Amino acid sequence: MHVLIADPIAAEGVELLSRHHQVDVKTGLPKQDLVGLAGSYDAIVVRSQTTIDADILAAGAGRLKVVARAGVGLDNVDVEAATRHGIVVCNAPQSNIVSAAEHTVALLLAVARNIPQAHTALTDGRWERSSWTGTEVQGKVLGILGLGRIGTLVAQRCHAFGMHLAAYDPFVAPEHAARLGVDLHDTIEEVLALADFVTVHLPKTPDTLGLIDTAMLARMKPTARLLNVARGSIVDEDALAEALRKGTIAGAAIDVFATEPATDSPLFALPNVVVTPHLGASTAEAQDRAAVQVAEYVELALAGDFVPSAVNVPGGPVNDLIRPYLPLAEKLGRLVTGLAGGGLDGEVTVECAGELADEDCSILGLTALRGVLAATSDEPVTLVNTPGLAEGRGLHLKQITTRHSEAHPSSHIRVTVHDRDGQAITVGGSLHPAHRERLIEVWSTPVDVEPTRHMAFLRYRDRPGIIGVIGSILAEEQVNIASAQIGRSAPGGDAVMVLCLDQPVSRPTLAAAA
Ligand code: NAD
Ligand code: MLT
Repeated sequence: MHVLIADPIAAEGVELLSRHHQVDVKTGLPKQDLVGLAGSYDAIVVRSQTTIDADILAAGAGRLKVVARAGVGLDNVDVEAATRHGIVVCNAPQSNIVSAAEHTVALLLAVARNIPQAHTALTDGRWERSSWTGTEVQGKVLGILGLGRIGTLVAQRCHAFGMHLAAYDPFVAPEHAARLGVDLHDTIEEVLALADFVTVHLPKTPDTLGLIDTAMLARMKPTARLLNVARGSIVDEDALAEALRKGTIAGAAIDVFATEPATDSPLFALPNVVVTPHLGASTAEAQDRAAVQVAEYVELALAGDFVPSAVNVPGGPVNDLIRPYLPLAEKLGRLVTGLAGGGLDGEVTVECAGELADEDCSILGLTALRGVLAATSDEPVTLVNTPGLAEGRGLHLKQITTRHSEAHPSSHIRVTVHDRDGQAITVGGSLHPAHRERLIEVWSTPVDVEPTRHMAFLRYRDRPGIIGVIGSILAEEQVNIASAQIGRSAPGGDAVMVLCLDQPVSRPTLAAAA
């Protein structure tokens, strides 16, 4: 497959991707070039410089399977448009959080002790000890806006400095804050009013855009300092410059800017400002981690597998118990659709039983539904566009969990659909040791077969001679039966034959067997 790397990433990631794919590294491309190229690639990898907008995604639709961000923030990818086109969007969310937190702490100390200003004065030949008296951070209040991954790491580090910690983040559990020794406040205004240092660790969203404006800055103490290692446009730069000039606040340390690269800013001329050019993630460790992590995720996405960091796939993180069942769930979805002859109505029921029932099984339901749709679709069906496609076809997913099942004691998945005549069709599967897949139920009849590439399923009334007849029909077409399983409800009752074949069967032969 073809992968476009549109922003510089560490060599290790490029190398990993090049092992199995044709990789083009073309950085700094303008939008019109990306629109022209998008349809020739299966994956695009970016950092924060390149924006992947709706036009580029529309141009890539049909072929483009994944947009991967070698870093955390996804404000440069139109996730909604990607979802509409069934394109997975993923990032490397853990890759650079330590680096970003450490950079925040570096800026905290730099702005508290005027380190860059003193450095510049000294290297300019001025010994200005009295000009650059700073402030200790011990005993001061650190106000944290956004107590997520990076905010949490900053809290832990600043706790060690003896700072008092206060945070505003209405979406985190109070227990999480309490464990960190952080006082969680109900309003941002409360935190701004009591903090000596305010550090921003929010995502860039419509709610946070321009959040720190003139009015918010006016809530801060005149002795307070503001840090932003999150995203530029969360803090209004003009308002901040004005507040620093007027003495509304005492200082600021800024790593990120509304427009980047930022070569001109009202902040640059001010003496009480420390700036860095978006260096939060710029460590060798973070860059290696981000590149390797996205390379692995792109690999998974291109193989049609579940990507743990996909942000537009419902279901959230997948644990080790659930993960091995994902391919089985998809196979069951495909199989049950085949048995129904393609025409389905209404509900697709996915039952997860046994140990699985203790977990969040939503991803198994979604994967089975994807199998159902993929079996009858000529467009790419991904975990991203599955809910939308299902809705379009009038199918809806019903998920059931059953702790104990007498019929199948081990953990298993059963998928039920209804054909156009309203007949329910159920298949079930389980994993044996070493994650070997087994079909354990077909047309509601117990079987025990390892699924293979070519299979045939027959349903008939139990009577002598059927195996011989089917064997002869297949032999005429030189189709070899590798193994066969027969299940029946009762002697002379409904019977099911499952054949594992070495070759595919042609339609006329199938018709003859029917
Ligand atoms: P995260 O998603 O783990 O944490 C963000 C927190 O903000 C969450 O706890 C969330 O509940 C909270 N939040 C969201 N909207 C909010 C709102 N309106 N009001 C209050 N709280 C809100 O993200 P993270 O990984 O900690 O990253 C934080 C920021 O840092 C992001 O903007 C990311 O892009 C940026 N970042 C910058 C650099 C850099 O190089 N400077 C590096 C990595 C990440
Ligand atoms: C991120 O969101 O990961 C950072 O801003 C760093 C980067 O852009 O690579």
